[in-house]
Amino acid sequence: MSHSQFPYSRPRRLRASENIRRMVSEHSLSPADFIAPLFVMEGKNRKAEIPSMPDYYRFTLDLLMDEVQQISDLGIPSVLLFAKVPDDKKDNKGTEALNRNGLMQRAVREIKEEFPQLVVMTDVAMDPYSSFGHDGIVENGQILNDESAELLAKMAVSHAEAGADYVAPSDMMDGRILLMREALDEMGSSTTGIMAYSAKYASSFYGPFRDALDSAPGFGDKKTYQMNPANVTEAVKEAVLDEKEGADIVMVKPGLPYLDVVRAVKESVHVPVSVYNVSGEYAMIKAAAQHGWIDEEQAMIESLIAFKRAGADLIATYFAKDAARFLISY
Ligand code: PBG
Repeated sequence: MSHSQFPYSRPRRLRASENIRRMVSEHSLSPADFIAPLFVMEGKNRKAEIPSMPDYYRFTLDLLMDEVQQISDLGIPSVLLFAKVPDDKKDNKGTEALNRNGLMQRAVREIKEEFPQLVVMTDVAMDPYSSFGHDGIVENGQILNDESAELLAKMAVSHAEAGADYVAPSDMMDGRILLMREALDEMGSSTTGIMAYSAKYASSFYGPFRDALDSAPGFGDKKTYQMNPANVTEAVKEAVLDEKEGADIVMVKPGLPYLDVVRAVKESVHVPVSVYNVSGEYAMIKAAAQHGWIDEEQAMIESLIAFKRAGADLIATYFAKDAARFLISY
């Protein structure tokens, strides 16, 4: 190779300044990409920081409204609601989950009343309501599939009646999307969408979330319904099934350790793909930043753009507000 020809290509020309880097950026983030998860609890005028999720709170419904206002003002189009259920309301039948005046249903009604434009999504799963902390009905130490799926369909209907725009089943029971779609259509709620947690793994990264809702399984683990972290073909199968059963959006969860799964699912379905940047991923960045070991803002943005690069259309993330603020100021 002669010196006059070296080097043939100089990729660094495309990195030479902030503006040229912006011009050739292959992916970008926008507040419209984010879904903000929210934890609501009973009571008045209280907010409680979740110990394993620094700067993240559970709110009573009155204070939650201020939080939603901020989210909406930042241009974030959607929230995903989780209710913390008092222990004395938990059982093995999801009774409280179907209560028309339950905390989840009240939260949906109030938020939709004040923020009609906001896309309100609800988590549909039994674990916060279950005396066993499992996502389905328990019998002889087993998680029943069909009985649980029936109950989840009723939960979805109850959330739709309260005004939810999207229900988000996070349980991993077989066939629940079809049952849910049929139940919603039968009640005349053909406009209510379904965001299916399609490829949800049995993951240690949910630890802080279970702190937030006090919903850790009382016995065993979730490996008979949530997926084995070693599998990717199975994730594609789950997502394709959910699409066929009527899911409007499919989700992969957790996020960062499963970017290959996001890509595989994205290439296999014809619906938007969302990814859940879960509580443990949030906690890791927060904890390292608190020690001064990484730059929180940089690590946050780098993680979020990685989801887009992997093929995610939407990102449920506890960083939604911080990231939106960063994007607006930038
Ligand atoms: C409930 C549910 C979980 C999460 C979302 N919905 C926990 C679990 O399945 O045990 C985890 C969210 C997070 O860790 O941020 N089915």
